[in-house]
Amino acid sequence: MNIQTIMVAGAGQMGSGIAQAAAASGLHVLFHDISSEFIQKGLATIAKQLTRSVEKGKITEERKGEILSRVRPTDRLEQAELAELVIEAIIEHMELKTALFQKLDTICPAHVILASNTSSLPITEIAAVTSRPSQVIGMHFMNPVPVMPLVEVIRGLETSQEVFDSVYELAKQMGKTPVEVNDFPGFVSNRILMPMINEAIFAVYEGVASMESVDQVMKLGMNHPMGPLELADFIGLDTCLSIMDILYEGFKDPKYRPCPLLRKYVKAGRLGRKSGHGFYRYP
Ligand code: CAA
Repeated sequence: MNIQTIMVAGAGQMGSGIAQAAAASGLHVLFHDISSEFIQKGLATIAKQLTRSVEKGKITEERKGEILSRVRPTDRLEQAELAELVIEAIIEHMELKTALFQKLDTICPAHVILASNTSSLPITEIAAVTSRPSQVIGMHFMNPVPVMPLVEVIRGLETSQEVFDSVYELAKQMGKTPVEVNDFPGFVSNRILMPMINEAIFAVYEGVASMESVDQVMKLGMNHPMGPLELADFIGLDTCLSIMDILYEGFKDPKYRPCPLLRKYVKAGRLGRKSGHGFYRYP
């Protein structure tokens, strides 16, 4: 399928990054969220990243304008009918996602592909609430999207080969490296990453080392660009907890038990960078 216009539904951290990467690759992007305040915030994030690239001499002011001009903000979900592909990037909440997919299913013509950027929720279950499960697929980008090359392309049980091929090709067109993954809790990325982060939190919780030391060990010893606690703050502690809960629920295996300290921080509103305080403080 020839995809030229996409809708990104959800203008948060991930949605903004996806919209930016898509527009930079030449796609037209309908940038949607439920309130114009969220959309404006998302647009400001994209503009800020592009301005940084201009300042570093990586792109021209003209190129920045050209990318921004391809991002069309809208708070009307009905505009999804103009897209060939919708990428959903709202919060990791099954009921909210399925409600959105049901709406999109009624709005979009039959040929439109509905993709979810979910980090761990089952694609098959999301697809099942629509009348087009063969047109539903997972397209899991990594944060920060404009920088990270990976896209996990997740087949739901009913996803057609044609839809898989279109999305795989589109990820390449966006300058990403798609990797095919099947539909299991956490897919591959978060099945491996999150237990590592959770274990790092347990190490602090059990007094094995300070959080700074845990991060140092993983940065200097394993060459990770960020320590696991710094990365948890970057991803968002609420997101980390919800992924651990999904792994725990999905596999019913105690090895995925979320660390009580992670749950405590989330309950306290310490969500990481976005709230100004997680394991570390952010001015
Ligand atoms: N948005 C866009 N670009 C960004 C960015 C952001 N939020 N943050 C950094 N960048 C860009 C910078 O502009 C810079 O670009 P240039 O090379 O073109 O100048 C480049 O990234 C490097 O940035 P910095 O020099 O400022 O800093 P750095 O070298 O420390 O790199 C980092 C920053 C890329 C974020 C790096 O620390 C890193 O790779 N961290 C790990 C990220 C990671 O693991 N992501 C996966 C998270 S898990 C996930 O996303 C899945 C999930 O479901 C939870």
